[in-house]
Amino acid sequence: MSPTTDRGRGPGLAGLAVTVLVVAVGAALIAMVAGGGADRTALATGGDPDMGRAALLEYGCAACHRIPGLRHPDTTVGPPLDAWSERTHVAGRLANTPENLVDWIIDPQQIDPGNAMPDLGVPESTARDMAAYLYTLGDGG
Ligand code: HEC
Repeated sequence: MSPTTDRGRGPGLAGLAVTVLVVAVGAALIAMVAGGGADRTALATGGDPDMGRAALLEYGCAACHRIPGLRHPDTTVGPPLDAWSERTHVAGRLANTPENLVDWIIDPQQIDPGNAMPDLGVPESTARDMAAYLYTLGDGG
């Protein structure tokens, strides 16, 4: 091994270490941005996810919907609400935005008369809490 070869190998390893570091930092940044996205959507509801989780149980939503993080019997009456932050539509009718989700929770019969989800008399502030919790579900949550 000549000194020349040794000198050549040093920078190579250092370069590899830098590359690994850059990739790791990049992945961490992407994860932060993705997580921040879901948090921002939850914030946009104006609700409190912890209160929402309790309200989803209290109003019996979990009797018809499978909702991650809530203990309930296995049910398939309504569609599962897992990965909610990744959904494009609410009930296949409205774009999945915080306002539309809140509207749906308050008055599903007005949006889609005759559908199998009853109006449960959820006050708007409670619907916002529920929406805040649902938007924590999914990739970013
Ligand atoms: C009696 C059963 C039942 C109860 C109780 C119920 N839902 Fe539903 N829910 C449904 C059904 C059925 C649908 C599908 C309606 C449709 O697509 O037209 C639905 C749809 C939804 C959707 C849209 C799902 C999707 O895949 O787009 C959301 C969100 C939702 N419900 C939230 C709630 C919340 C929050 C509560 C509690 C306040 C609740 N539901 C209570 C039966 C129920």
